Amino acid sequence: MEQALETAGAGKSAVSKGQVSGKKLDFVKLKTVVPSDAKARLLTEFSDLNTVLGGGILMGSVMLLAGQPGIGKSTLLMQICAEISKGHDVLYVSGEESAGQVKLRAERLGADSERLNFAASTSGNDIAKTIETGEFDLVIVDSIQTLAMDEISSAPGTVSQVTNCGNLIIRAAKATDTAVVIVGHVTKDGTLAGPKVLEHLVDVVLNFEGDRYGGFKTVRAVKNRFGSTNEVAIFEMAESGLKEVQNPSAALLAERTNTDGSVILATLEGNRPILVEIQALATPTNFGYPKRTASGFDLNRLNLLIAVLERRTKLKLSDKDIFVNVVGGMKLNDSAADLAICMAIASAVAGRKLGEEYVVFGEVGLGGEIRSAFRADQRIAEARKLGFLHAIGPSTVHDKFVIPAKDLRETLIRYVK
Ligand code: TYD
Ligand code: MG
Repeated sequence: MEQALETAGAGKSAVSKGQVSGKKLDFVKLKTVVPSDAKARLLTEFSDLNTVLGGGILMGSVMLLAGQPGIGKSTLLMQICAEISKGHDVLYVSGEESAGQVKLRAERLGADSERLNFAASTSGNDIAKTIETGEFDLVIVDSIQTLAMDEISSAPGTVSQVTNCGNLIIRAAKATDTAVVIVGHVTKDGTLAGPKVLEHLVDVVLNFEGDRYGGFKTVRAVKNRFGSTNEVAIFEMAESGLKEVQNPSAALLAERTNTDGSVILATLEGNRPILVEIQALATPTNFGYPKRTASGFDLNRLNLLIAVLERRTKLKLSDKDIFVNVVGGMKLNDSAADLAICMAIASAVAGRKLGEEYVVFGEVGLGGEIRSAFRADQRIAEARKLGFLHAIGPSTVHDKFVIPAKDLRETLIRYVK
């Protein structure tokens, strides 16, 4: 260590003489600074997406739109371009598709503005140079994984290419106050392939998630320097592109047939209360270990809840395969989903339906106790709005709508028996 310091100080640098090179910073009174989100915002046609963005796409901001291949990133961006190019100059750069291919999509989505331009390119330098001209208000770069810089010899998509191309583009965007959206593909497990570094460089990171084959897709901000990260926009892919789902609860419950194993959960997607149907199916295990499958729910959590059910309610599950499904392609990330999952499993095993008038929410502890859920009031409001009569929920909630549940065993005996 000592030696390392000495070597660093060798050559009689300023440090060894106790002097400082560099000059005094130019600082300003923070009070007089114009906040950067006071700049203009480009509005998309999707009101919920505008909310996710904190009020639209901010001029001069750089956004990363991340999602699995085929989820609809190019479609969403073309729709955004169609709207914004009505009043602004927009450039769509693709490194993946030709002008002809993009034109097909644009036609289908009704993008026909004079001010919408296209370029096919995989050169990070050329794209940055084009942004630097300041000719465009919005530039789309689809996708970062296809770009390469002349100065770097590694293949497109590698960390060094992604970081350097990203930096070049960001600098150009900031210099000319151009809004830029960069597309990033993610791998199967949901992590950004290669460009994790990019997340730190950009202003906004949007994740586009959901079922690739039908069902709902969600767009949420996992990082937003100019807005909250709690909002979510919900989309559905239709013939004519993506459509915002205005009342997801109603749409999610539309096809419900009340069978055993079906329970309605009052959950939250970001800040938004949503009712979803949880379905459970239990079949006898033919040989070997019982199988547990969860779609839209964490498998580890499911195994934990099954253990709690077995131990605390004496329900026998070790000889049954259990499948749990969250209808509509939603991915639950809500600890208050526990009670609904447990009730769905118990209902499937007992072959008994839960009354149609109930929604359920609450966390289940290892002791089989039912614990409080955050934002209970919003969950209740959504259930009321959709015509439910009661919620089975934690006893800490004081609302006539909620029938308090304290213990898992008691609750199951009362409602599923
Ligand atoms: P795409 O936006 O190309 O996905 P990504 O850029 O994320 O890879 O398209 C996703 C899918 O959407 C594609 O399989 C075709 C389908 N699609 C529609 O169903 N309707 C449409 O109007 C469009 C443009 C695409
Ligand atoms: Mg694409």
